[in-house]
Amino acid sequence: MIIAPSLLAADFRKLAKEVERVDRSEADWLHLDIMDGHFVPNISFGPAVVQQVRPLTRLFFDVHLMCSKPEILLEPFAKAGANQMNIHVELGDQVTPLLWRIKALGKHVGLAINPPTAISLVQPYLHQIDALLIMTVHPGFGGQSFIYETLPKIQQAHAWREARNLRYRIGVDGGVDFKTAADCAHAGADTFISGTTLFHQRNLAAAVKKMRKAVSAAARLNGEEVLTTDGPR
Ligand code: DX5
Ligand code: ZN
Repeated sequence: MIIAPSLLAADFRKLAKEVERVDRSEADWLHLDIMDGHFVPNISFGPAVVQQVRPLTRLFFDVHLMCSKPEILLEPFAKAGANQMNIHVELGDQVTPLLWRIKALGKHVGLAINPPTAISLVQPYLHQIDALLIMTVHPGFGGQSFIYETLPKIQQAHAWREARNLRYRIGVDGGVDFKTAADCAHAGADTFISGTTLFHQRNLAAAVKKMRKAVSAAARLNGEEVLTTDGPR
């Protein structure tokens, strides 16, 4: 189980301290939302900011590119210290060359999908990716409510992974709190991106622990159901 606080919800007046707060917790990744004011109606931050916070922690940097032209940003973010870069499946024809470019830069490859987009669109890429990022809100802003209609996508992604014996992570991003994280874990998610819920707690480390406990319990419950319905595997 990966818990990834999303920096978008940090207090930007004290960014370094916020990154250190995540570093001191038992979080696994730091999620970095990059918005270009075109693919989404908002702007966040760029490679220069990522480069400046990079020396503050050894956490895995999961860069989420909500951008219409990620091709011009892959190299700058790779140099700035990204470990994984997620591009959006909504980019259509551009997806394959972008995935190859990320691989060529020696980074982990992530593919994100928006709530209205059919999950079948990611199917051709599943053998090429390290992570699938299922958006559980419309991207662009933190602090939105979880869209429950996205849960079947998690179940489908999980079923495909089992059936094809693949290894990609199944991440959820947007409106992930302790309850919705558990629901996602129950559906088959293993990677939990959470901004507001984790950062807006005085004790972020305790919140990370609480989320890990919630998702682990829900995943175990999943396992028990498999045992009762299918018999031991
Ligand atoms: C949404 C971003 C998310 C966001 C999640 O566009 O991709 O990563 O930071 O924030 P919360 O957890 O506040 O919904
Ligand atoms: Zn994100």
